[in-house]
Amino acid sequence: MKTKLSPTIEVAEKLFLEGAAINHGPWVNHSRFAAHVARLIARAHPDMDEETAYVLGLLHDIGRLERHSGMAHITVGYRWLMERGYALSAQIAMTHTFPIADVELASSGWLDHEEDKAFTRSFLKKVHYTPYDRLIQLADSIGGIYGIVPMEVRLVDIALRHGTNELTVPKWKALFSIKETFEKEIGQNLYEVLGIPGDSPWIPNELRCQLG
Ligand SMILES: [Fe+2]
Repeated sequence: MKTKLSPTIEVAEKLFLEGAAINHGPWVNHSRFAAHVARLIARAHPDMDEETAYVLGLLHDIGRLERHSGMAHITVGYRWLMERGYALSAQIAMTHTFPIADVELASSGWLDHEEDKAFTRSFLKKVHYTPYDRLIQLADSIGGIYGIVPMEVRLVDIALRHGTNELTVPKWKALFSIKETFEKEIGQNLYEVLGIPGDSPWIPNELRCQLG
């Protein structure tokens, strides 16, 4: 089969709707938000293609079309996309949740999916992260289930739902570092680019004169 990196928008929408029809879970709206975030960041970026970003964001969680809990969705998504010949989309189905290439990063755990864990461990040893892997790691951490939110909000929400482990803080630091890198490349705060409330402290007017 001739390998394409990722599908066109039209094909991606069709594939996505196929998946959403099979399992219409919270991942469906989350994927739409993540795709939108990826598109807006890529649009502001000098070297990225916004259509590619959108497609990669839309399909990053396609493995959730099978009702797997925990981390099995990444290997399901990888194989599903590889079967269709979309190598970069498939790669990002695996890498989007690993800003650090360490299989133990998954706080939701691998449950009894030991084969998936072993496959992911060896995949992460070999993979070379492209700027699009980094972009979707970021978009996955800003596109929530109910809307687009500051990364701080999304990361705490995930921690409350799935728990934390000793790699949670290193993972958060890696994501903030990716955000900073994109901001340097774009020359603008990402939250401004996305039109969401920023991360600067708010100082009420009546307190301004009292502060040292
Ligand atoms: Fe996701």
